[in-house]
Amino acid sequence: MTAKPRPIRKAVFPVAGLGTRFLPATKAVPKEMLTIVDRPVIQHVVDEAKAAGIEHFIFVTGRNKGVIEDHFDTAYELERTLADRGKRSELEALQREVPGAGQASFTRQQAPLGLGHAVWCARDIVGDEPFALLLPDMLHHADRPCLAEMIEAYNQHGGNHIAVAPVPEDQTHQYGIVGVAARDAKVSRITSMVEKPPRGTAPSNLHITGRYILQPEIFDLLATQQRGAGGEIQLTDSMITMAKNSGQPFHAVRFDGAIYDCGSKIGFLMANVAYAMERPDLAPLLKAGIKKLM
Ligand code: UTP
Repeated sequence: MTAKPRPIRKAVFPVAGLGTRFLPATKAVPKEMLTIVDRPVIQHVVDEAKAAGIEHFIFVTGRNKGVIEDHFDTAYELERTLADRGKRSELEALQREVPGAGQASFTRQQAPLGLGHAVWCARDIVGDEPFALLLPDMLHHADRPCLAEMIEAYNQHGGNHIAVAPVPEDQTHQYGIVGVAARDAKVSRITSMVEKPPRGTAPSNLHITGRYILQPEIFDLLATQQRGAGGEIQLTDSMITMAKNSGQPFHAVRFDGAIYDCGSKIGFLMANVAYAMERPDLAPLLKAGIKKLM
């Protein structure tokens, strides 16, 4: 009988990027704090991790990102004021979202050297156990949270898991792409991985969407700090080495919901419309407003 895989208790959220695609909005405000309807992007992603059973939330922050730490902390004066004014439901909603004592950790990436480097910065907090990694600007919208589906697949197969989704063939050069053993399966063994393949060379049109379950051995590879595409320390490069050299299995979990890249202006706008359309308090007015604009 094969041993049950170790549980996934911790999730890493790298939030130290510069957000250059969204300047000037992100000059003083982290892109992760831009709001989708009335919740910051990062809150939506933390909610996804919570719904998947994650117990410890690890944020890799950087310069100008202090407000993210404040968002996940008690706001004593505000809470006191809400209590004094009898705004009980607003107060309870705020308090519900603050992680419990010791459930959130913050570490800092001093320079944005790439996603791989940001993940490596969390090594001591993660320790020697498998963990989830969620890119906070990529919203995965579905009835069943993406990470919950991945953990289910992980509990069955163990090893490492990467969420994937199809992109148009002429866009594969912009993404991390994986080749898989069974193209149409919900969960399939990954046979190859490549970061931003030159046009016409991609092994498939399945791109890496920003949700991962990784074994802690990834930190040893990230420690080499090798630069890859764009001069950045790339996570995909270390995953490729890990798959090749250690024989660690990697599985692709196909995500069938909608994905919004909220680090891009169009992705952010589309996410706002999609999330607002699901809100009974907003949808009728929004529909009427859009109709008028059209
Ligand atoms: P992105 O490449 O989408 O973020 O990285 P970015 O660099 O902020 O975006 P642009 O291209 O300049 O607009 C994916 C995620 O990894 C984090 C980002 O914050 C984002 O959530 N990241 C990226 C880091 O934490 N550190 C880095 O060095 C790079």
